[in-house]
Amino acid sequence: MNRGQKTEGRRQRTEDRGQKTEVRYLALSFIIILLVFLAHSSDAYSFTTANEFLAHVKGEKGCATQQCHQQFMKGVKKFEHDPASSGECGSCHNAEAYPNRFGLELNQSVSCTACHKKVEQEIQTNQFVHGPIKNGDCTSCHDPHGSDTPFILKKPYSQLCSTCHSLKGLYAGSFIHKPVEDGNCGICHAPHSSNYKSRLRDIGANLCLSCHEDIMSGMTKEYVHAPLIKNGCIDCHDPHSGNDKSRLKSASNRICFNCHEEKKTEMDHYTKKHKPAFEGQCTSCHSPHFSERKYLLTGEIDTLCYTCHKDNSVWKKRQFQHGPVMQGNCAACHNSHGSDNAFILRLPFPYKFYTAYEKGKYSLCFLCHKEALVTTGKTLTITNFRNGDVNLHWLHVNQEKGRTCRACHDIHASDIEYHLRDEFIFGTSSIPINYSKTVTGGSCAPGCHKERRYDRVKVVENNN
Ligand code: HEC
Ligand code: HEC
Ligand code: HEC
Ligand code: HEC
Ligand code: HEC
Ligand code: HEC
Ligand code: HEC
Ligand code: HEC
Ligand code: HEC
Ligand code: HEC
Ligand code: HEC
Ligand code: HEC
Ligand code: HEC
Repeated sequence: MNRGQKTEGRRQRTEDRGQKTEVRYLALSFIIILLVFLAHSSDAYSFTTANEFLAHVKGEKGCATQQCHQQFMKGVKKFEHDPASSGECGSCHNAEAYPNRFGLELNQSVSCTACHKKVEQEIQTNQFVHGPIKNGDCTSCHDPHGSDTPFILKKPYSQLCSTCHSLKGLYAGSFIHKPVEDGNCGICHAPHSSNYKSRLRDIGANLCLSCHEDIMSGMTKEYVHAPLIKNGCIDCHDPHSGNDKSRLKSASNRICFNCHEEKKTEMDHYTKKHKPAFEGQCTSCHSPHFSERKYLLTGEIDTLCYTCHKDNSVWKKRQFQHGPVMQGNCAACHNSHGSDNAFILRLPFPYKFYTAYEKGKYSLCFLCHKEALVTTGKTLTITNFRNGDVNLHWLHVNQEKGRTCRACHDIHASDIEYHLRDEFIFGTSSIPINYSKTVTGGSCAPGCHKERRYDRVKVVENNN
C-alpha cells in the first residue's frame, strides 16, 4: 500500500467515526476526534518493525520522488538539508533502529553529530550546554529535511526561542532592547553551547561592542570605569528590557550608589549639600563609562559648573581671574559632593563682612597663601598691602571686628588688580570701594570712610 492509499483509508475511517461520535457524544466529539487523529498520525503510520519498513522501501528507486515524499525533493524548500535532498534518507532512517519511531536513533544528537563533528566537539568541550541539546533534541529547532528558514530552522529565528521560553520575564520592562524585540536572541546567546554563563557568545563588554560603536571607541580612552573592564555592561544595564530608555538595573539616581555606598554615606553626613550630587545626578559630571579626564569627568571642571551656574560664566570675561579659577579648577575650593562649610567650600572661610579673627577661620585661603599674611603685625616682605612696615592685612583682618578677605577681594575674578572688588554688599546696600593703585601703594575711598592711602616706601598718615 502506498502512502496515498493509506491516507485515503484513514480519511474514510476518521469521517465515519466522526459522524457517529457527533450523534452520540456531542460535547466530547472534538477531543475524541483529535485524540484518534493524533494516535493515527503517529503510530499507525510509523512502522513498528524493521520488516514493515523494509517492505515499504523495497523496490523503490528513491524515497523522494513525484509519487512519494515529494515534499523532501530537491528544490521544494529554500534551504535544503544535504542528506535529505540528495536522497540519503538512510543516514538517519534505517531498519536497525526499529522499533524506534520513524527508524531513528533515540538520541538525535548522536545521528546528527555523526556528520556534524564541529558541533559535536563544541558540545563536548564547552562548559554550558543548552537544555534541548543535552536531551539530544536537535530537531526541536532544526527541520532535518529542509526548511524555508536559514540553517534549516523550523521557525524564523525571531520565533524560535519563544517556542520554549516565556518572554514575559524578559520583556517585563516597558523599554525593550532592539535586538531582543527583534527576536535576535542568537546575537548574544549561542544556541548550542558556550563557555560563558547563560551561554553568551562572548564575555563582558565584547558582547555589546559589536553594535555600540561609540562605546567601543570610548573604551580606548585613558580612564575606563572599573566595572566595564571587570563585568562589561550588565552590572548597570539589563540586556533585555527595563524601565527607562537605558534599561538601567536601578533608578538612574540610585545606580551609582549601588557600588559607591561610601559616597552616599559621605553625602548624607554633609550639612551643606550640593543638590545634583545629593540627588544622585552623578552623570551630570561623571561619565558612567569612560573619559579622557581623571575621575571620569565629562568635561573640564569649570565647564561642568557653568552648565548649571550659567550666570557665573561672566567670570571668564573678567580681566583678572584668580589662579585656580583661571585653571578651571573650581574643585580646588569647592567640594562638588557637599561639605560642612558654607558654599560647599572644602575648608572654612568666613563669608560675612566682619568677623572676629581666629586661627583656622581662613584655612581655605591658607591652603595656598601664607598665613603670616594676617598673623604678622610688622613686615617688609610678607605682603604689599602695607603702609611702611605696618601689615594692613593684619590690621584689617586680625582683630575683634575683623574684615574678611571678601570685604576687599572678589574670590573668583575681578576687573581690578589684586582681585579687588569694585564694591561690596553691606547690609542691603552696595558700597563702592574706589580703589586706585600707585607704584608703591594705593588708596581707597569707600562709601564708609574717607579716602585712605598706603605707601610701602613713604608711610602715609591718614587722618580720620
Ligand atoms: C538528517 C536526518 C534525516 C534525514 C537525512 C532524513 N530524515 Fe526523515 N526524519 C528525520 C527525523 C529526525 C524525523 C522526525 C521528525 C520530527 O520528530 O519532527 C524524520 C521524520 C520523517 C518522516 C515522518 C514525519 C514526517 O515529517 O512526515 C518521514 C516520512 C521521513 N522522515 C522521511 C524521510 C525521507 C523520505 C528522507 C529522505 C528524502 C528523510 N526522511 C531523510 C531525520 C531525517
Ligand atoms: C549524513 C550526514 C549528515 C547528517 C546525519 C546530518 N547532517 Fe546536517 N548537514 C550535512 C551536510 C553535508 C550539510 C550541508 C553542508 C554544510 O552546510 O555543512 C548539512 C547542513 C546542515 C545544517 C545547515 C548548516 C548551514 O550552515 O546552513 C544544519 C543546521 C544541519 N545540517 C543540522 C543537522 C541536524 C540537526 C542533523 C540531525 C537531525 C543533521 N544535520 C544530520 C550532513 C549531515
Ligand atoms: C535551541 C535551538 C537549537 C537546537 C536545539 C540546535 N540548534 Fe543547531 N542551530 C541553531 C541556530 C539558531 C543556528 C544558527 C546559527 C547560529 O545562530 O549560531 C544553528 C546552527 C546549526 C548548524 C550550522 C552552524 C554551525 O554551528 O555549524 C549546525 C550544523 C547545527 N546547528 C547543528 C545542530 C545539531 C547537531 C544539534 C543537536 C546536537 C543542534 N544544532 C541543535 C539552533 C539550534
Ligand atoms: C526546545 C526548547 C527550547 C528552545 C527552542 C530554546 N530553549 Fe533555551 N532552554 C531550554 C531549556 C530546557 C533550558 C534549561 C536548561 C538549561 O539551563 O540549559 C533552557 C535554558 C536557556 C537559557 C539559560 C541558560 C543558563 O545558563 O541560565 C538561555 C539563555 C536560553 N535557554 C536561551 C535560548 C535561546 C536564545 C533560544 C533560541 C535560540 C532558546 N533558548 C531556545 C529549552 C529551549
Ligand atoms: C544584547 C544581548 C542579548 C540579547 C539580544 C538577548 N539576551 Fe538573553 N541574556 C543576555 C545576557 C548578558 C544575559 C545574562 C544576564 C545576567 O547574567 O544578568 C542573558 C540572560 C538570559 C537568560 C537567563 C536569564 C536568567 O535570569 O538566568 C535567558 C533565559 C535569556 N537571556 C533569554 C533570551 C532570549 C529568549 C532572548 C531573545 C528574545 C535573549 N535572551 C536576547 C544578553 C542578551
Ligand atoms: C545586535 C546589535 C546590538 C547588540 C549586540 C547590543 N545592542 Fe544595545 N542597542 C542596539 C540598538 C539597535 C539599540 C537602539 C538604538 C537607539 O534606539 O538609538 C540599542 C540600544 C541600547 C541602549 C539604549 C541606548 C539609548 O539611547 O538610551 C543601551 C543602554 C544598550 N543598547 C546597551 C547594550 C548592552 C549593555 C549590550 C550588551 C549586553 C548591547 N546593548 C548589545 C543594538 C545592539
Ligand atoms: C556603572 C554603570 C554602567 C556600566 C557598567 C555601563 N553603563 Fe551604559 N549607561 C549607564 C548610565 C547611568 C547611563 C545613562 C547616562 C545618562 O543618563 O547620562 C548609560 C547610558 C548608556 C547608553 C546610552 C547613552 C549613551 O551614552 O550612548 C548606552 C548605549 C550604554 N550606556 C551602553 C553601555 C555599554 C555598551 C556598556 C558596556 C561596555 C555600558 N553601557 C556599561 C551606566 C553604565
Ligand atoms: C558595579 C559597581 C559600580 C557601579 C554601579 C558604579 N561604580 Fe564607579 N567604580 C566602581 C569601581 C569598582 C571603581 C574603582 C574603585 C577604585 O578604584 O577605588 C569605580 C570608580 C569610579 C570612579 C573613579 C574613582 C577614581 O578614584 O578614579 C568614579 C568617578 C566613579 N566610579 C563614578 C561612578 C558613577 C558616577 C557611577 C554611576 C553612574 C558609578 N561609579 C557606578 C564600581 C562601580
Ligand atoms: C557637580 C559635579 C559632580 C557631581 C554631581 C558628582 N561628582 Fe563626583 N566628582 C566631581 C569632581 C570634580 C571630582 C574630582 C575630585 C574632587 O573634586 O573630589 C569627583 C570625584 C569623584 C570620585 C573620586 C574621588 C572621590 O572623591 O572619591 C568619585 C568616586 C565620585 N566623584 C563619585 C560621585 C558619585 C557617586 C556621584 C553622585 C552621587 C558624584 N560623584 C557626583 C564632581 C561631581
Ligand atoms: C547639574 C547642575 C549643577 C552643576 C553641574 C553644578 N551645580 Fe552647583 N548647584 C546646583 C544647584 C541646583 C544648587 C543649589 C542652588 C540653590 O539651592 O539655590 C547648587 C549650589 C551650588 C553652590 C552653593 C551656592 C549657594 O548659594 O549656597 C555652590 C558654591 C556650587 N553649587 C558650586 C558648584 C561648582 C563649583 C560646580 C562645579 C564643580 C557646580 N556647582 C556644578 C547645580 C549644579
Ligand atoms: C579660591 C577658592 C575658590 C575657587 C577656586 C572657586 N571658588 Fe567659588 N566660591 C569661593 C568662595 C570663598 C565662595 C563664597 C564667597 C563668595 O562668593 O565670595 C564661593 C562661592 C561660589 C558660588 C556661590 C556664590 C556665587 O557667587 O554665586 C558659586 C556658584 C561658586 N563659588 C562657583 C564657583 C565656580 C563655578 C568656580 C570655578 C570656575 C569656583 N567657584 C571657584 C571660593 C572659590
Ligand atoms: C588652590 C590655591 C589657592 C587658594 C585656595 C587660594 N588662592 Fe589666592 N591665589 C592663588 C594663586 C595661584 C594666585 C596667583 C595668581 C593670581 O593672581 O590669581 C593667587 C592670587 C591671589 C590674589 C591676588 C594676588 C595678586 O598679586 O594679584 C588674592 C587677592 C588672592 N589670591 C586671594 C585669595 C583668597 C582671599 C583666598 C581664600 C578665599 C585664596 N586666595 C585662596 C591660589 C590660591
Ligand atoms: C581691607 C581690604 C583687604 C582685606 C580685608 C584683605 N585684603 Fe588682601 N589685599 C588687599 C589689597 C589692597 C591688596 C593689594 C596690595 C598691593 O599690592 O598694593 C591685597 C593683596 C592681597 C594678596 C596679594 C599678595 C600681597 O599680600 O600683596 C593676597 C594673597 C591677599 N591680598 C590675600 C588676602 C586674604 C587671604 C585675605 C583674608 C584673610 C585678604 N587678602 C584680606 C586688600 C585686602
